[in-house]
Amino acid sequence: MSGQTEPFTFDDISETAIAAAIAKYPAGKQASAVMPLLHIAQRQMERAAGSAWVPRAAMDAVAARLGMAPVRVYEIATFYLMYNTKPVGKFHLQVCTTTPCWLRGSDDIVAACKKATGIAQFGETSADGLFTMTEVECLGACVNAPILQINDDYYEDLDTARTEALLAALKSGAPAPPPGSTIGRHASAPLTGQTALRSPSQATQNAE
Ligand code: FES
Repeated sequence: MSGQTEPFTFDDISETAIAAAIAKYPAGKQASAVMPLLHIAQRQMERAAGSAWVPRAAMDAVAARLGMAPVRVYEIATFYLMYNTKPVGKFHLQVCTTTPCWLRGSDDIVAACKKATGIAQFGETSADGLFTMTEVECLGACVNAPILQINDDYYEDLDTARTEALLAALKSGAPAPPPGSTIGRHASAPLTGQTALRSPSQATQNAE
């Protein structure tokens, strides 16, 4: 299951997930489950081939299952960035370079990714097949910029050293470091710590 047109059949895990996804929609509206089914297909490819992507054969299987014209599934799979239409490495590095992340040093994150993986430009996969680097637009986490999404996880508040350490850990085969802020920031609280609602009485006053 590694080519665009090699046969694709949903496995048992996928079938269970598909039944649950389709059941969320009224009878006759099963096409509304197209996005979850594409995600399920991508997860199956990750399990079977070690690369989370959706080949055309899988899009055709989704179309057949939902009674849709294949081209309608292709349109969706090629529009949304979360669907990979080409094989990707085990670790998909999605670097946000939109203005807030750029102002907070995304150029350094891109450089660190290139240095650690040997990738020369966006869209490439490293020679060892471990990493693919993609440029993405705002990931909706600007408050903790700059952001690097790796597979489904966000790594936040990065700089060169922390990005290099993160990628070195992944390369070594060690368990993935915990996602979230890499400087220990609580959620998206200010760097200087909590500045509001610091006591129950303050919360009560603000509510009045
Ligand atoms: S600009 Fe990078 S997360 Fe919004």
